[in-house]
Parts: sequence; C-alpha cells; structure tokens
Amino acid sequence: MRKWNFNPGPAVLPLPVLETLQKNTVEYGSLGMSLLEMSHRSKDFEAILNGCKARFHEVFAVPDTHEVLFVGGGASLQFSMVPMNFMKDGAADYLVTGTWAKKALKEAKIWSAFSGGKPAAAASTESENFTRLPKPEEWKFNPGARYVHLTSNNTVYGTQWHAFPQTPAGVPVVADMSSDILSRAVDVSKFHLIYAGAQKNLGPAGVTVLILRKDWLAECPDNLPTMMNYKTHAENNSLYNTPPVFAIYAVMLVLDWVKDKGGIEAVEQENNKKAELLYGVMDANPDYYKGTVTDPASRSYMNVTFRLPSEELEAQFIKDAAASHFHGLKGHRSVGGIRVSMYNALELYGIERLCEFMLAFMKSH
Ligand SMILES: Cc1ncc(COP(=O)(O)O)c(C=O)c1O
Repeated sequence: MRKWNFNPGPAVLPLPVLETLQKNTVEYGSLGMSLLEMSHRSKDFEAILNGCKARFHEVFAVPDTHEVLFVGGGASLQFSMVPMNFMKDGAADYLVTGTWAKKALKEAKIWSAFSGGKPAAAASTESENFTRLPKPEEWKFNPGARYVHLTSNNTVYGTQWHAFPQTPAGVPVVADMSSDILSRAVDVSKFHLIYAGAQKNLGPAGVTVLILRKDWLAECPDNLPTMMNYKTHAENNSLYNTPPVFAIYAVMLVLDWVKDKGGIEAVEQENNKKAELLYGVMDANPDYYKGTVTDPASRSYMNVTFRLPSEELEAQFIKDAAASHFHGLKGHRSVGGIRVSMYNALELYGIERLCEFMLAFMKSH
C-alpha cells in the first residue's frame, strides 16, 4: 500500500509517472534495452532531452530568451556556480531567508576570496529564526550588484515569496526554486536564472534544472574549470558529460503529468486549495496547531510548519499519523514540531484526510 508521503525531498512522485518509469526500466519502448542502458548520445535519448526542454517551455512558459539546461551536483552546486560565473569581482546581494539561502551566501563568500567579489546579505531574518520573510523596509539592495539571489520557497522554515521582492532595475535576479518550481505560474522573464534540484516537484534526485537567460552567458568567464562554466553546458546542449539520463526522462514524464492535469494553472489552483484547507485547520485551532511562521503573508504553500502544545504530543502525533499511513511529517531539527510537505504530487485528497486526522487527534489528545 502506498503511504501518504509528506517527505520534504526526495518526495512523492505521481503514480502514473512511477508506473511508466517502471515499464521503461526494463525495456524502453521496443528498443530491446532499458533507458538505463542507452547511450546519452543516442538519438532516442536526445529526443528525450529535447522533449524535456520543449515541455519546460510549454508547461512553465519559459520564453525563447532562456535556455533550459540539465546538470548534476544538486542545487547546492549552484550556490558555487552562480558567484563563479556572475559575481566574479563585483557585488552580489543575497536575501537570507533560511538554511539554503544562508548556504548560498556562504559559497559566494568562499568564492569571493578567489575572485575579490563582495557578496552581502541584502536582508536577513535569521535573528527571528527565519519565521518570516524580510519586509520591503528591511531590504537594502545595492543598485550596482551583479545580481540578487533569493530562495523562492524556504523548505525548512515554511516560508515562500508569494510576490517576489522589488529589486533594483537592471540588476539580474537569480532564484533557487528547488522546492516550489512548477507549483505555480511564474513570470520567467523576470529572472536571469532559475535553478532547482529536481527531487521535490520535478522528479527524482540527480538532476538540477537551470533556466538561464541566453544573453547572460556572455558574462561567464573563460578561465573557470570547464564543468563550472554555464557556457560549457549551454554550448553542448547539456551533453558535455554524461547527464543523469533517467532523472531527465522522469522530469519529462512529470511535465506531461502536469499537462494532463490541466497545466500549471490547474496545479496552482489545487495547491492553493490544499494550503487553504491545512492553514484553515491551524487558524481555527491556533492554540493547538501553532504555525511557526509569524507573518501570514510569508506562509509557504509547499511546506507547512507547526508546533503542538508539547513535544510529547508532537511525538504522539507523528506516531499516530504513521499508524494511519501518513509518512514524513517530522519537522526539521532547526524548527522542530511538524512539517507537512505537500508538493504537486500530493493529492488534495491526501490533505483532506490529514486535516480530518488532525481534528480527530486534537479531540482525543
Ligand atoms: C530550497 C532548497 N535549495 C537547495 C537545496 C539543496 O538541494 P540539493 O540537495 O539538490 O543540493 C534544497 C534541498 O532541500 C532546498 O530545499
């Protein structure tokens, strides 16, 4: 029996996608071999790679000004590649809104020792344990920065930018969308670079998707190690080295699944409904299910974090939830309590069941 999977990542994938993967793991179409056994330079794989790119343009409305690339190394490698390619010896602004944003700034600082760059926090809510996003009056952007870096959804702390911050005109914006890409419509043209590790909304771990403005590639210096240079990946259609072929295929299937559901707008509507239901239960019972996010406008629709009146009750909640086939609800150690990760493939029905469980648990405990 499949559990209700609330894992923060790697996370739940759509069942039809898993079934198609299962079939093609043994034999891809009628090719007499598994997709896992095929050359990444075969025309069959090239069709998958180009098909995956085309679906990004279609489903996520990526304009032709941007290139879709697939690389390894996780989203974490992007924390280094971004400053190496684009900060160089200049300034870079970081919105420090959680664990991952902080790690991104850390890597920029490491690179600055080599490049002479000047990365800085344009705002940080760390002193409040990242329980909200910084407000406009707290942003201190440098209009001369080479870019602004933000994390669209803070997976650990349960906050999300619903309206992206007003950044200085002409300064490129880089977004780590690892935990909310494809969960809502985004105006991609507003970003010079979007990157996302696949293992939440896009597919299995192993591939990182980059959506990069083509004309920004001219900024990439020629003296970087080859694999660290975005140009290498762009000039070779993500085939400079062996890309994670199976993960790319899975991402293509997930994009088809989104299309079949009615596209990104339909997915967004369902995500809004899921958030409304769960936050509804919390708001109706704020003394029992106490959200850790202090500003309602900062609440994430992907990762919902809350505490119960005691740690004993939290442990009991997780235990009882597991007995009811709800899996992966334990909060990150830096926040504690409960975290409900409800990515695209977690159906509305699952949240309805979880809300029922929460109300019943509250009554009996
Ligand atoms: C927002 C965000 N950025 C980056 C990462 C790191 O991703 P990876 O493990 O692919 O390096 C995560 C992982 O959870 C994340 O949630």
